[in-house]
Amino acid sequence: MATTQARSLLFSPLELRDVTLRNRTVVSPMCQYSATDGVANDWHLVHLGQFAMGGFALVFTEATAVVAEGRISHGDLGLWSDAQIAPLARIADHVHARGARLGVQLAHAGRKASMQRPWYGNGPLDAADTARGDLAWPIVGPTATPHGEGWLRPQALDRAGIDRIVGAFVAAAKRAHAAGADVVEIHGAHGYLLHSFLSPLANTRNDDYGGSLAGRMRVPLAVARAVRAAWPAGKPLFFRTSSIDGNAAGWSLDDTVVLARELAAIGVDVVDCSAGGFTTSRLDFGPGYLLPNAARVRAQAGMATQAVGFILTARQAEEALQRGDADLVAIGRAALMDPHWAGRAAVELEGDAGWAHWPAQYGWWLERHAALLRTF
Ligand SMILES: Cc1cc2nc3c(=O)[nH]c(=O)nc-3n(C[C@H](O)[C@H](O)[C@H](O)COP(=O)(O)O)c2cc1C
Repeated sequence: MATTQARSLLFSPLELRDVTLRNRTVVSPMCQYSATDGVANDWHLVHLGQFAMGGFALVFTEATAVVAEGRISHGDLGLWSDAQIAPLARIADHVHARGARLGVQLAHAGRKASMQRPWYGNGPLDAADTARGDLAWPIVGPTATPHGEGWLRPQALDRAGIDRIVGAFVAAAKRAHAAGADVVEIHGAHGYLLHSFLSPLANTRNDDYGGSLAGRMRVPLAVARAVRAAWPAGKPLFFRTSSIDGNAAGWSLDDTVVLARELAAIGVDVVDCSAGGFTTSRLDFGPGYLLPNAARVRAQAGMATQAVGFILTARQAEEALQRGDADLVAIGRAALMDPHWAGRAAVELEGDAGWAHWPAQYGWWLERHAALLRTF
């Protein structure tokens, strides 16, 4: 016997500018540390492709460096060179053929660049990495203060250096467009360069680019403004924030609301509400622990939000949307565990109608399999 349930909000489409997302499920950006010279390869094709097959609407690449020195590790994806466009275009084509959209997260790692791949230690590159051929490189930050004890000392960016980085974000956004990406997200979270300008924990400059909240927002807003101008008007632009630093002396949710209003005025479409990123960040982890932050930003900045962070079940995601916490729900590790998370969520929320969200090659069989299982 067929099962029927009401349509869910999670599986209703969302229009952002000229891009229609087939539902509200997003694969959160997740570094794979598996590229060579920033170039995507078969790992990235299969890794990102599996999520498109799995029913997600929007699949984000990992943090994709806008300059080589802005990589977290030697294995990061990049878009600092035209040679990186075609391998990414192959992935965009594949994702599109599965009915999903490709997002590219553009990033500069700042003080947290020149790091080990997590499985080699997840800290700054050291002698063991040098022996593997992964040499450390000079890094930059808002000041010359390292990210933490034992970390590389950055060079403080001057005005010309800041302008070069803004230009690199623009050039990378143009390459993302050339590759066929549908969405660009500016990475402004997790202690990387733009977040390190925003947060008073890292930005102690006393020039135009530091000090007051307006000063600390200047570089991230300049990047957002320049990317918005270069990124096609029909394509949505997202900005990922650490909505809180998790440190009373740091960036607050009130600051995020102010930033989101500024971003909205620039033409950013979605604020993606993550958190943390400093050695002193203390976060109160738990299922959906950042949903209230996405809700506050959505209500107080009047802006679409993407929620992320321990969103584990279909029901949890649906309830978050129904409450109005967010417009989109990003799934990270639960998608690594089950690349068909979205397809399974559709069946859980909508019964047999949910099989329409599966590729026919799997769905045709699994719908009948599910019916048989119900007779046991
Ligand atoms: C393997 C891995 C790599 C990640 N890489 C990135 C990244 O490149 N950019 C980013 O903004 N967040 C990154 N994150 C954070 C995720 O996007 C997400 O915000 C976080 O995992 C919380 O969501 P979850 O509880 O659903 O996993 C990464 C997380 C994981 C597990």
